[in-house]
Amino acid sequence: MKAFTRRAALALGAALAIGLGLFPVDARAVGTPAASATPRAGIAAVAAPDRPSAEVARDVLRRGGNAVDAAIATAFALAVTYPEAGNLGGGGFLTLHIDGKQAFLDFRETAPAAATRDMYLDAAGKAVPDASLVGARAAGVPGTVAGLWAAHQRYGTVPWKALLAPAIRLAREGFVVDAQLAERIREQTAELAGRTNFAAHFGGVAAGQRWRQPELARTLERIAAQGSDGFYRGRTADLIVAEMRRGGGLVSAADLVGYQAAWREPLRFTWRGQEVVTAPPPSSGGIALAQLLGMREALAPAFTGLAHNSAGYVHLLAEMMKRVFADRAEYLGDPDFVSVPTTKLTDPAYIARRAAEVRALPSTLTTVRPGLEDSPQTTHFSIIDGAGGAVALTYTLNGGFGNGVVVTGAGFLLNNEMDDFSTRPGQPNLYGVVGGRANEIAPGKRMLSSMTPTLLLRDGRVVVSLGTPGGSTIFTGVFQTLLNMADFGMDPQAAVAASRMHHQLLPPDRIVYSQCCALAPETLAGLQALGYKVERSGWEFGDMMVIAVDAAGRLQTGADPRGRGVGLVFEAMPSGRRSGAR
Ligand code: GLY
Repeated sequence: MKAFTRRAALALGAALAIGLGLFPVDARAVGTPAASATPRAGIAAVAAPDRPSAEVARDVLRRGGNAVDAAIATAFALAVTYPEAGNLGGGGFLTLHIDGKQAFLDFRETAPAAATRDMYLDAAGKAVPDASLVGARAAGVPGTVAGLWAAHQRYGTVPWKALLAPAIRLAREGFVVDAQLAERIREQTAELAGRTNFAAHFGGVAAGQRWRQPELARTLERIAAQGSDGFYRGRTADLIVAEMRRGGGLVSAADLVGYQAAWREPLRFTWRGQEVVTAPPPSSGGIALAQLLGMREALAPAFTGLAHNSAGYVHLLAEMMKRVFADRAEYLGDPDFVSVPTTKLTDPAYIARRAAEVRALPSTLTTVRPGLEDSPQTTHFSIIDGAGGAVALTYTLNGGFGNGVVVTGAGFLLNNEMDDFSTRPGQPNLYGVVGGRANEIAPGKRMLSSMTPTLLLRDGRVVVSLGTPGGSTIFTGVFQTLLNMADFGMDPQAAVAASRMHHQLLPPDRIVYSQCCALAPETLAGLQALGYKVERSGWEFGDMMVIAVDAAGRLQTGADPRGRGVGLVFEAMPSGRRSGAR
């Protein structure tokens, strides 16, 4: 590990000085001078979905690890303490900024080699209920361990084993179960009764009690000792394949050995003088975010004077979201398998044309076509290290607790990510979104995602790291959170806590809003008068985690009160340089 050198401190000071000021972002954009600030060297922050994982990140950063080191340790810790979405058996995306450069790592699951386009349809071509959601056959080839290993190979400065140690300790010695986790486990146990082995693993878990997971600890120890081979080969792989055999799943030993995480060029665009660095396909999130933020700019006059979450405001957001979802369903899929027109879909001229459609609308009751000629769970955390390095990492099992299958003897859940494919054209998935040919199942293909781990940079320095779970509500939530900070001057905590709305084209003109916090009665009445059906969501969407640099150059966090997340800002060593440590 690197010592805190004077040079590093100076560099960090410069970094924070340049990265001054975020709130309100639009104030910067319209020319309000940034407040002067005294940059504080060696300050780091984490916003993570539970306290144990946030403390793991803090400890890694305090000891001089960089944001990627902290992210690896946090992701493994969440696999222990946040089993509804933290995982070894799933996949995800990581957007990072280290040493002044950005990168994007895709460790999304893939369809097994034996998967076929119609594997979830019956003889009559109808979707078999829950076939892509529950049980071994719903699992894609997991990518998380390969992803964390690849991130460490390229950016790690702390030995791999040391990054696994906190997770192993949490699994072996146990942690005190939060009431929210206990309740989610109770609900899922009822849901899966008699369908998977979920109850056998989770049966005794109770709020306020210490929960130890010795099988998971042994799996983590194998990964600590052998790197990704500790998961994709040998004992862990054997246990996964045995579970597949028992449950009729398709993931084979060859699929596991062959899994590769992929470094991809992140999607980049400019928004109000900031560079947005976010998820490219196979996520729809980055394209959607570019379209939403771009339409918002093109429609600036229409937004003038609209109050936050007023009927007029929600109406405009909904009309923009319709267009995004129309394009998503038609064009987006795994870029290694289909040609995704990313450049066209994010072209400012195209976005302006789509925005003009919104402006021209007389009402909401318009059919939107593609424009170029639950309690679902995922989880996200954000980290900024003491040297200005940053990570936004979103990973998932898809539905809460994935496919409900615990790998016997290995102590972890598998994903049901196959449901994110378009299992049949027009067939809504878990999140109610549809897809077409671009996202149909093929062996080795990655299923389309909505995950949107995002960094905003100003003058080359990260000023925001954010993301959230929520399936198809992910990018609409990221979008609204950015607007909350930029247009309404909310600090990160207020921005993540605010009620959010969501509209995804289908069902037509149906707007849902956060379970926790209703829209105002006058907003509801106004939207109903415009022809919308407005409903409280049947599931709580989002667990937004944000770190942002305020106008005084200080790090601030927002941890969504919908979940059990924690934001911490603390002194840390400004490490972040590769030491070659393994
Ligand atoms: N499984 C949710 C997503 O990837 O969007």
